[in-house]
Amino acid sequence: PTTPSAHVPRLDHTIFAHRGLSTLNPENTMEAFRDARDHGARWIETDVDLIADGTPILIHDTQLERTTDHTGSIYALTAEDLPSIDAGKWFGRQFGGSHIQTLADLVDFLNETGINANIEIKQNEQGAARTIQLIDAVAAELARLDPSIQIIVSSFSQPLLMHFHQRQPQYAIAVLYETCALYDDWLSVAEFCGATYIHVEDRGLTREKVHAFTAAGYGVNVYTVNSHARANQLFNWGASGVFTDVADLYPCA
Ligand code: G3P
Ligand code: CA
Repeated sequence: PTTPSAHVPRLDHTIFAHRGLSTLNPENTMEAFRDARDHGARWIETDVDLIADGTPILIHDTQLERTTDHTGSIYALTAEDLPSIDAGKWFGRQFGGSHIQTLADLVDFLNETGINANIEIKQNEQGAARTIQLIDAVAAELARLDPSIQIIVSSFSQPLLMHFHQRQPQYAIAVLYETCALYDDWLSVAEFCGATYIHVEDRGLTREKVHAFTAAGYGVNVYTVNSHARANQLFNWGASGVFTDVADLYPCA
């Protein structure tokens, strides 16, 4: 890894709460983050994208249908719309009243709890200028964090990571890969992005590939792992962390 200026978290058998504790709560809501904290998680993962007025929000999809009671593109929203959108009822009636959270809400939560976060920046579909706006909006929020909070910034978009690293070299970077998209050029891609971690899909991942990453000096965090047996196998191969949806793998399960 080529990022001596980045603060690189030292991870060991790390459990990332994927979108919060997302099998017991609607994903990426404050309920999911709090429940992860209550189950002993020290790291949460979340997805960040930018809405029309420049507010970074926590949402996985670019459309509202799957995780809210509204329809349409997230890119048409402004912060004023967020309180009127229910992001919990789809998951269960008792979660009615949950809302789409902003990155500002998450930063407040991290500062209050001391929990660390992997911020996955989505591949913004609105062009290069908008992507730079997204990077700067994320960085402006992260600048409010207590320095003790550890952050890893990841994305499937390699140009986005490269720009993020150039503008904000103090943050650790992780390149996201689907295993099927993991070509032999992964090392030059990781160097291009200034990464110190590889975040790779579990399906099809082999011991040889994990060893190749670790031998080159990269930390390896694997998504999404919902069984103890597989998590232990990956840790034995040298993985530093796994992303999980289920409470079973949490420290206080
Ligand atoms: O960051 C790991 C994982 O969250 C990436 O895939 O689709 O769940 O955001 P996805
Ligand atoms: Ca994600």
